[in-house]
Amino acid sequence: MAEIELIEAFRNAGQDQVFRFFDELSPAEQAALLAEAAEIDLAEVARLKRELIDAAGDGAVDLEGLEPAPYESRPESGGDAAVWAEAFKLGEKVLRAGRVGMFTVAGGQGTRLGFDGPKGTFPITPVRSATLFQVFAEKIAAAGKRYGRILPWLIMTSHQNHAATESFFEENNYWGLDPSQVRFFRQGRMPALDEAGKIMLASKGSIAMSPDGHGGSLRALERSGSLDWLESLGVDTISYFQVDNALVRCVDPAFIGWHLDRQSEMSSKMVPKAYAGEKVGHFCRQRDRTVVVEYSDLPAAMQEETDDAGALRFIAGSIAIHVLDREFVRRLAIGGADVALPFHLARKKIPTIDSAGNPVKPTEPNGIKLEMFVFDALPFARNPVIIETPRQDDFSPVKNAEGVDSPATCQADLLRQYARWANAEGAALNLDESGLPSVTFEVAPSFGYDEPSFADSWRGRAAPISLEDQTVLS
Ligand code: UD1
Repeated sequence: MAEIELIEAFRNAGQDQVFRFFDELSPAEQAALLAEAAEIDLAEVARLKRELIDAAGDGAVDLEGLEPAPYESRPESGGDAAVWAEAFKLGEKVLRAGRVGMFTVAGGQGTRLGFDGPKGTFPITPVRSATLFQVFAEKIAAAGKRYGRILPWLIMTSHQNHAATESFFEENNYWGLDPSQVRFFRQGRMPALDEAGKIMLASKGSIAMSPDGHGGSLRALERSGSLDWLESLGVDTISYFQVDNALVRCVDPAFIGWHLDRQSEMSSKMVPKAYAGEKVGHFCRQRDRTVVVEYSDLPAAMQEETDDAGALRFIAGSIAIHVLDREFVRRLAIGGADVALPFHLARKKIPTIDSAGNPVKPTEPNGIKLEMFVFDALPFARNPVIIETPRQDDFSPVKNAEGVDSPATCQADLLRQYARWANAEGAALNLDESGLPSVTFEVAPSFGYDEPSFADSWRGRAAPISLEDQTVLS
């Protein structure tokens, strides 16, 4: 759109404040502001103002008819071992056929972690201090070797961390991956709005833009050409995980098998909640659809409800691991009146400028950020399946600098996992009552990225393996 038309469109939409200081800007600043403005879908902003701000109710989430969602239990907790074995076989078959691609959402800021840099560049393993990205890269490389395939890997960044993410991979030679198998793309952004639905400026020459949430990954996959790229490679199944989860099984044949066997368009993993108030989303059914209700939206009384056996009723916690059908993503990305992810609104302190152009550093929330959540795609999916997964082998996020879900808890979880795998092969390590070994060692994914691959490598070593402090198995 030509410059004049763009400015005109903003004026017609009642958003002329965006260009209030335009004449004071240098040509380069003007160009930058115009480029930001061009990212904004004014019709969408108008709709969101109408639906989320003007017509806002009391903010309460619709809980009518909410029931716990059914899920497939692990064989260890009552599931049918033969069915799980079949799922595993099917998953391995499609991995060997090259139909699976990996996808990491890595656009968030590590604000809570207090880490300045892309979260994936955070060092996490106990001996090598390998970063989150390195751990995933090595798991994907090892699985690729196992299945005789180069597994494509998509990484969604944000505007803020895109360049730093790409250069980190380059500096580290992609940890041995073929760069052509890794594709980075930026997620979309949304402008912050004030209570009147006006787009806010961060400075005279820039709009207060922020990432559109991990749900924005669906349209970003489409817009960036990544879905077409996957299609050209023959990939129709996308394995989705978050950058903050060091334990994640990036490549999980059983999960992929369940997804395909059920002809599901979007599948999810659950862990039984550790306690009633654990801060995870809850898998539920409502009006014949699967939904996720965040911990902040489910009343405490419901979080605490128990069944006749005394178990939590809403027990299925979402750990943000999914398998998605490529064409399902495309359908949602293209959208339409009845297939579109909703936006969630969050009132935040947004640095801005006043009408005279002076900077304002708010001490109270002064604006609205808009985000989409990927789990809101579930209600649109055909045959969504939820499977149970062992927390100890799939979920240990790094979210906070200290306390729960911190580098310390995650590192301890990694150590416990290595020790479990080693002791299952007869290593006879001393463990404390939480399963933590007395020696600090590390298993590189090239040696073992899951229990079967670890067992293969362990048994394949001619000489007995001794695990000392600081040993790295690779
Ligand atoms: C999220 C889930 C929660 C789940 C938990 C598991 C939401 C609202 N909640 O919580 O149900 O139990 O993870 O760990 O998502 N990201 C982007 N772009 C964005 C925003 C986020 O790529 O615009 C990525 C982040 O890099 C991160 C992930 O999404 O990998 C999760 O974001 P975060 O905001 O940390 O989610 P949580 O609130 O911790």
